[in-house]
Amino acid sequence: MRSEEPRSVRLSEYRPPDYLIDQVDLDVVLDGDKTLVTSVLEIRPNPEGRSNVPLVLDGDEITLAGPPLLDNDELTPEAYVETPQALRIHMPPKRAFSLKITTKLDPAKNTKLMGLYRSGAAYCTQCEAEGFRRITYFIDRPDVLSTYRVRIEAGRKEAPVLLSNGNPVEAGLLPNGRHYAVWDDPWPKPCYLFALVGGDLGVVRDSFVTVSGRHVGLAIYVEHGKEDRASYAMDALKRSMKWDEDVFGREYDLQVFNIVAVSDFNMGAMENKGLNVFNDKYVLASGDTATDGDYAGIEAVIAHEYFHNWTGNRITCRDWFQLCLKEGLTVFRDQEFTADMRSRPVERISDVRGLRAIQFVEDAGPFAHPVRPDTYREINNFYTATVYEKGAEVIRMLQALIGRDAFRLGMEFYFSRHDGRAATIEEFIACFADASATDLSQFLLWYSQAGTPEVAATSSWDEDTGTYTLNLLQTVPKTPGQDIKKPMVIPLAFGLLGMDGEDLPIGGDNAESGLIVLNKAEHSFAFRGLNSRPVLSINRTFSAPVKLTTDLTENDLFFLARYDSDPFNRWQALQTAALRVLIRSVHAVRGGNRPLNDPRLAEAFASAIADPEIDPALLAQLLALPSETDIAREIGNDVDPDAIYAARIGLKRALARFVRGALADLYRGLVNDGPYSPDARAAGRRALRATALDLICAEQDDASAMLAFAHYSAANNMTDRMSGLAVLSGIDRPERDQAFADFYKRHKGDALVLDKWLSLQAVIPEAGTLDRVRRLMKHEAFSMANPNRVRALIGAFAASNPTQFNRADGAGFDFLADIVIDLDPKNPQVAARLLGAFRSWRALEPGRRGRAEFALKRIAATDKLSPDVSDLVIRALA
Ligand code: PHE
Ligand code: ZN
Repeated sequence: MRSEEPRSVRLSEYRPPDYLIDQVDLDVVLDGDKTLVTSVLEIRPNPEGRSNVPLVLDGDEITLAGPPLLDNDELTPEAYVETPQALRIHMPPKRAFSLKITTKLDPAKNTKLMGLYRSGAAYCTQCEAEGFRRITYFIDRPDVLSTYRVRIEAGRKEAPVLLSNGNPVEAGLLPNGRHYAVWDDPWPKPCYLFALVGGDLGVVRDSFVTVSGRHVGLAIYVEHGKEDRASYAMDALKRSMKWDEDVFGREYDLQVFNIVAVSDFNMGAMENKGLNVFNDKYVLASGDTATDGDYAGIEAVIAHEYFHNWTGNRITCRDWFQLCLKEGLTVFRDQEFTADMRSRPVERISDVRGLRAIQFVEDAGPFAHPVRPDTYREINNFYTATVYEKGAEVIRMLQALIGRDAFRLGMEFYFSRHDGRAATIEEFIACFADASATDLSQFLLWYSQAGTPEVAATSSWDEDTGTYTLNLLQTVPKTPGQDIKKPMVIPLAFGLLGMDGEDLPIGGDNAESGLIVLNKAEHSFAFRGLNSRPVLSINRTFSAPVKLTTDLTENDLFFLARYDSDPFNRWQALQTAALRVLIRSVHAVRGGNRPLNDPRLAEAFASAIADPEIDPALLAQLLALPSETDIAREIGNDVDPDAIYAARIGLKRALARFVRGALADLYRGLVNDGPYSPDARAAGRRALRATALDLICAEQDDASAMLAFAHYSAANNMTDRMSGLAVLSGIDRPERDQAFADFYKRHKGDALVLDKWLSLQAVIPEAGTLDRVRRLMKHEAFSMANPNRVRALIGAFAASNPTQFNRADGAGFDFLADIVIDLDPKNPQVAARLLGAFRSWRALEPGRRGRAEFALKRIAATDKLSPDVSDLVIRALA
């Protein structure tokens, strides 16, 4: 490692701040490259902090425009020092005082997209986690809460729209074609929730009347000409506001709620108080430009950011270790919202697919960390699937353990006890312990122990007494820095199916409720008085985020796939059966044999297709085989991505051949000539039709190319167009190039749509893809400066093209290393995210593993790495 190792921050070393800032008055003059920010801070010593210590205000890439003023008096040069990372006032008064600071910045040069920067026709800000210090000197930590009054001044032409947090209180004209606006946010907040926008933007307006009758003005600001693409986001916003009132009793608390869509954004969106800033990908949609998946993403992210108003903003985090306090909880809330808006089982299946594909993989590799990490070098690297998605699973388990009513009461305790404050996980969990009169201390292990617990279920049957005994054994694997683990509390929803497929009444051992709580390393549960050996359905609804192995036979699995009353476990049973075949098949392929199949799996597919009770969206999930990542994760080590690909496509072909007729009927029966509507029902039909197309075209022959091309050409919406193009992209025929060319012509100039075009090409599982990606980097549709473009092309290649990123010759790894090294100085956060593609490099077979290590070491040896990238390479190689 050439660059210095970044210093670690530890949870155990938390100390309250020495000073508090009660009020912030900001005056921001936006004027090209000489933006001036003047802040007046009302500061006082914190009675809980140390006394007689210097005041240290964080700063990053900013400079003072002049000496600070303390209570209106200029500080002498001896009284303070400005360093690259701080402004230090050596001996501040031991009473409340005001400090006035002016800093200079140049938003147009800000390529990190943290702090104040330019995106398209707007100035905007991003402050989470530590971006406010790039705007002005401040105590940049979430437990310093202040009220803000913000005055923004800019050219009227350049920036007719001037927004900040809170309520608008004043606006007016100034000489020289300039104007100003003043915003006041009455709710105390940490500086990471500060936001400001100034620019020339179009707007869509609406309103919402809250449960207590208050009128809220809603506005979504977008690029001029794109206003009509914001209507779905607006609709989702209103539904979110209503849902949070109905389900969690949470009312909105300002006169306005503003959303601004920008095209340059490091993440998905940001919950700044009263002024959410969004990646435009999660706002803009029309039937012609967005897929059903995009619509679902918009609905979920709009809801997520809105829900943060209570879980994150009104109640925030004491420190960044508590990130899951707001993120896990808010993901849980947005998942519940989607489940209520759409299909609960389908939402659960897709959340679990995502959890396994990303979080389980993260948890099994070098980047594994607890839901609440206890140390970090760079906080930006902890916006992870573990904090977000596993964090949401932990909340879901809590609800399962104490029951819905106690859970709701616990949430009420949380809102009333901690409103206006910065809280910790312990304080949050105490609310539920009190609400349910339960001791949740063992449950807290879910926050501190990393790694995916493994549960092995075995059973025995005593014919004479009619007793079914279930033995459960849990183990938690080692993870970096955690060799020894304690048994966790694992809530397992379950049922026992009788011979006719019905749920049997279950009595005995604490199991009446259909929930087993496994809280020891090993435990047995007996069920008596049964007439015949039951079939176990366990971890229903995926009640615990664990890896489960059972002694269920394949016939049991097919039985569950057909009869289980829990739709999630019907899906799971088919996935498990398919995975078993696929893993045997991978071994066969590596041994030089042909891929395997299992006629019983094909029968199960056929009977699912024939079952009129299954709704299309669920059937689409049932018919989708485990992904290559699923298979790799299950294999765990010595992974050969080419063999996995061969096994999977082989099985897909065999299944498709078996159910060919039924698929063709299904495909034909689902045509919809009506106008496009993004509703869940219509989306489910399109999803099923796309799945049918994908299976029918598994042969990847001339006929497949023709059918996929016809599907593409007949499409009257982006969803169908993309499902045609996605299938076609895997078929090396002239129709493929023709369709890609056509798509480009249709959507030229529409960057968000072209991202789809870039991604599809990046994930083609063919040897020519790396060269194609290199060529596309020179295409006019691509830009290294825009995070969405980088993720669409390079991110998709690295994260979603297992065979080509993991090429045996290491060229995929070398390519990514070059990109990371090149991008790091400009945008370290985006560079670091790309490195996530190395999250399971040690699980690869030895040849590829060596090449991956070589690439990682080359990055590590680079001069002046950012803390973001160096933290990840240190951990990847540890
Ligand atoms: N807090 C944002 C969210 O999840 C994510 C985010 C983190 C955005 C850091 C920008 C920077 O809602
Ligand atoms: Zn969030």
